[in-house]
Amino acid sequence: MKLFLSGKKILITGGTSALGEAFIRRAVACGAEVHFTYLTAEAKALELETAGAKKHTVDLSDKDKIDAFLKSFVAKNASLDVLIHNAAATADAMIENMSEEAWEKVLAVDLKAPFYLTQKLLPLLLAVRPAKIFTIVSRAGSEGLMGAANYAAAKGGLIAMTKTLARELGRKQILVNAINPGFMMSRMTEKISKKAMQNALERSPLRTYSDPEEVAAFLVYLSSNLVRQVTGQVFHFESRPL
Ligand SMILES: NC(=O)c1ccc[n+]([C@@H]2O[C@H](COP(=O)([O-])OP(=O)(O)OC[C@H]3O[C@@H](n4cnc5c(N)ncnc54)[C@H](OP(=O)(O)O)[C@@H]3O)[C@@H](O)[C@H]2O)c1
Repeated sequence: MKLFLSGKKILITGGTSALGEAFIRRAVACGAEVHFTYLTAEAKALELETAGAKKHTVDLSDKDKIDAFLKSFVAKNASLDVLIHNAAATADAMIENMSEEAWEKVLAVDLKAPFYLTQKLLPLLLAVRPAKIFTIVSRAGSEGLMGAANYAAAKGGLIAMTKTLARELGRKQILVNAINPGFMMSRMTEKISKKAMQNALERSPLRTYSDPEEVAAFLVYLSSNLVRQVTGQVFHFESRPL
């Protein structure tokens, strides 16, 4: 287990999220050098640094802040094995009430930042064969989500970007896949009503929410050298019939 990700350098955005934390702890335990970005959760970021990862504060809605992070990251790192676009913002409202600001912020964090980080970190990924990019998506991106046109549009865009990058970058030995972790307990779902949470549970054949630990373990497996020929896929953890 210790050597599973030995020698691999990984960057994950939103390391302080439920899924981010589970992944970071596992990846560090498997021997990876893990860098993560976060924005406000300072105490959690410090805990993760104590656990062996390296924290970077970046507001992913602000291009200047991303540029400042990239400048220092690229100066210290010549290669990157795995890039995981996990951070996500939400600002829910029905379309009549959705402000342009709410639209733009969610699209900036959830879609534009993954595009921009991928483009700027490509030279580091090209230094490794094969390198891997993962996008963390949602069923909202393919089916829509009431009261979240901005989030659904961003995740739909991310799925389309994932499939396109898999085609563009395959010949350069960069594998690009999306993971929908399904309905997990996290700060994001804390905002959802009890009734909606119950409905989600009842629609699930397994009658469970997703476990971030299981999703993190799957991401560790996909990041490892055991996987070299899988690209352009969307993996769903959501225990819902298709
Ligand atoms: N939870 C679910 O049920 C569910 C379902 C489907 C898909 N997903 C996807 O799974 C991923 C992880 O979700 P989660 O529920 O574990 O997330 P979460 O606990 O709600 O955390 C969100 C993360 O995004 C970061 N973030 C938010 N705005 C940011 C900004 N402007 N700049 C930089 N970072 C920012 C937060 O950083 P700070 O906390 O440090 O501010 C935090 O690390 C997301 O991509 C989400 O869309 C989740």
